[in-house]
Amino acid sequence: MVRFMRRVLTDQVIIITGASSGIGAATAIECAKTGMNVLLNARREEKLHAVAEQVRQAGAQAEVVVGDVTDQRISARMLDAAQQRFGRFDVVFANAGYGFEKPAVEVADEELRRIFDVNFFAAAELLTRAAQRLLSQGRPGHLLMCSSCLAKFTLPLYSAYSATKAAQSHLCRAMRIELEPHAIDVSSVYPITTATEFFEVAQRLSGRETGRASVPDHARRGFVQSPQRVARAVVRCLRRPKPEVWTSHTVRTVAAVMTMFPSFMDLIMRRAARTHRRSSPADP
Ligand SMILES: NC(=O)c1ccc[n+]([C@@H]2O[C@H](COP(=O)([O-])OP(=O)(O)OC[C@H]3O[C@@H](n4cnc5c(N)ncnc54)[C@H](OP(=O)(O)O)[C@@H]3O)[C@@H](O)[C@H]2O)c1
Repeated sequence: MVRFMRRVLTDQVIIITGASSGIGAATAIECAKTGMNVLLNARREEKLHAVAEQVRQAGAQAEVVVGDVTDQRISARMLDAAQQRFGRFDVVFANAGYGFEKPAVEVADEELRRIFDVNFFAAAELLTRAAQRLLSQGRPGHLLMCSSCLAKFTLPLYSAYSATKAAQSHLCRAMRIELEPHAIDVSSVYPITTATEFFEVAQRLSGRETGRASVPDHARRGFVQSPQRVARAVVRCLRRPKPEVWTSHTVRTVAAVMTMFPSFMDLIMRRAARTHRRSSPADP
């Protein structure tokens, strides 16, 4: 699906979930700079309005739909709001998500279900509904999910999170092939460690507020990126749609090698687990 013609994004409409901070907020602002109008969703109303204001300052129009992505009515509300305010939507970026750090055997059933509800089921529902509307209107579009490099290999303590991200990745691949004949592109975004609120949330949910820097110690310097960098890569993908958005060729290569050599993957992960234990002495 790699397209060679550069798409003009001016006046296109993008719906972004998880737009109150991090990658979602940065993508909203980066899209606004291209002339796209933006519908933003998240739960924290004040933060969402602050990002909407930055979108307007960049010269674009913004609409806000506050709410939890697991609310069953929210996908329809977002799509309806985009139609009402802008007359259409062209792009949907299912980005809302979170993680926590916990050994797999300690993850409670409700924790596992909740993380799948937010990261996978809500994203799947939004993209499915968006695709249905585009198909019924006979319009092209672009649907994206924010997966993670951890969809391709997991870190110790991130089993639940990785599972949700791998599930996203597979769904996007199937949808991409199915929707291609209808001129609807589907892309997965694979950020590596990104300096956002993600790790503060993860620490809080893991009951381990260590007060350490907002990115984990297993993340080596040089492998920590800004949300703006991810946002710029997303915008490049909107201009020239492609199946996968990666912001680190090194991590992409490592992921491929680790898939081919699972014992090598385990070796690397054992080392990561040791580093993590040293930096978090409270862990078992
Ligand atoms: N940071 C990384 O290293 C990294 C790496 C790979 C992939 N990712 C992925 O990137 C995406 C964005 O994360 P981020 O790094 O930008 O972290 P972030 O700054 O914590 O942003 C997460 C966003 O999701 C929203 N959100 C969380 N739960 C929600 C819910 N139930 N309903 C609606 N919105 C919800 C949050 O807003 P509210 O709290 O206001 O609702 C926030 O806007 C996530 O899918 C994450 O898995 C992150």
